[in-house]
Amino acid sequence: MAAAGAVAREEDAFRRLFRFYRRWEGGQPSGLVDFSTPTAREVKTCSLNFSSVSDQDAYRAGLRPVSQWKAFGLDNYPGFIFIQDPFLPGCQRHWVKQCLKQYTQKPNVCNLDMHMSLNETADLWERSQHQMRNKHSSKWEPKSLLEKLRWVTLGYHYNWNSKKYLPDHYTPFPPDLTFLSKQVAKACGFPDFRAEAGILNYYHLDSSLGIHVDESELDHTQPLLSFSFGQSSIFLLGGQKRDEAPVAMFMHSGDVMVMSGFSRLLYHAVPRILPNPEGKPLPSCMELPLPANLPADSVIQPCSQEDWQVCARYLQTSRINITIRQVLAESQSFPAETETKEEQSVTIRSYQEEH
Ligand code: OGA
Ligand code: MN
Repeated sequence: MAAAGAVAREEDAFRRLFRFYRRWEGGQPSGLVDFSTPTAREVKTCSLNFSSVSDQDAYRAGLRPVSQWKAFGLDNYPGFIFIQDPFLPGCQRHWVKQCLKQYTQKPNVCNLDMHMSLNETADLWERSQHQMRNKHSSKWEPKSLLEKLRWVTLGYHYNWNSKKYLPDHYTPFPPDLTFLSKQVAKACGFPDFRAEAGILNYYHLDSSLGIHVDESELDHTQPLLSFSFGQSSIFLLGGQKRDEAPVAMFMHSGDVMVMSGFSRLLYHAVPRILPNPEGKPLPSCMELPLPANLPADSVIQPCSQEDWQVCARYLQTSRINITIRQVLAESQSFPAETETKEEQSVTIRSYQEEH
């Protein structure tokens, strides 16, 4: 019955393109936007709020001065802003290391928590680093815990079952990521943005993220911020309905995407992870050293050679995406409701790795 139902269901325009890009083997399909060489007619440069972020605050967050950012919009997608890699040389490494070494620590929540004891998931980095360093790419080896990681949640922890955030499931949001988010939001015209929930997605070359809308946040007037690191991907941005055909674009390492206003609640998906277009194991923006004299109050910490070795190994076949959300409007609180037992359990994200 289920199979017959699935066949009978007509494939919508979004799903058709999702399946196309999931299997895409290169070649240049028309309409695939690449903001690193923007030629498409629908791409418009977008002017940001230069004076809202001081060069010093940008620098503290590991970002170039806002006046140097290359920001774009898309016709028919008001509120969508694509910022092509605004990071200072060497600074992407900090965020990659945080996503693998720091943000994976308790009390943050990850997909492995449902299968494993607290003790086993307490330090994924420590338990994986030796194995990652000694990996032979030619030989099959069991996966390390870091390689089994699919998502981490921060702040208000998103519950994949109930699709809700709950008031008593909150842990402190990482201050460095709060600061980075604040600067990006300010530059895009959202000076009051608060980073309250984060979802980190860890992708490998065969991963994808299914078609969805992020609507669980209670305030949709604030933007959703997205940061990408490592290998590239194709991102599909659709309409308010599933049957509207999406626009397809590349996301490369360092790229930042802001979904706000009309574009805040649009369908989107990541059908495909692709090796970086330079054809090197790591994109060259990851090879650069940090600025020589970071300010003392910088949130960027130098990454040791030893730690970077593990991160670099991981990123050779992976992409990390950070999405930051504001959950509640200013002085809004959660509606009163009782949580069921089922809702309390953490489950694998239902729309991830759809085949
Ligand atoms: C998400 C999301 C997109 C990406 O986490 O909700 O849409 O680029 N991520 O990984
Ligand atoms: Mn999303």
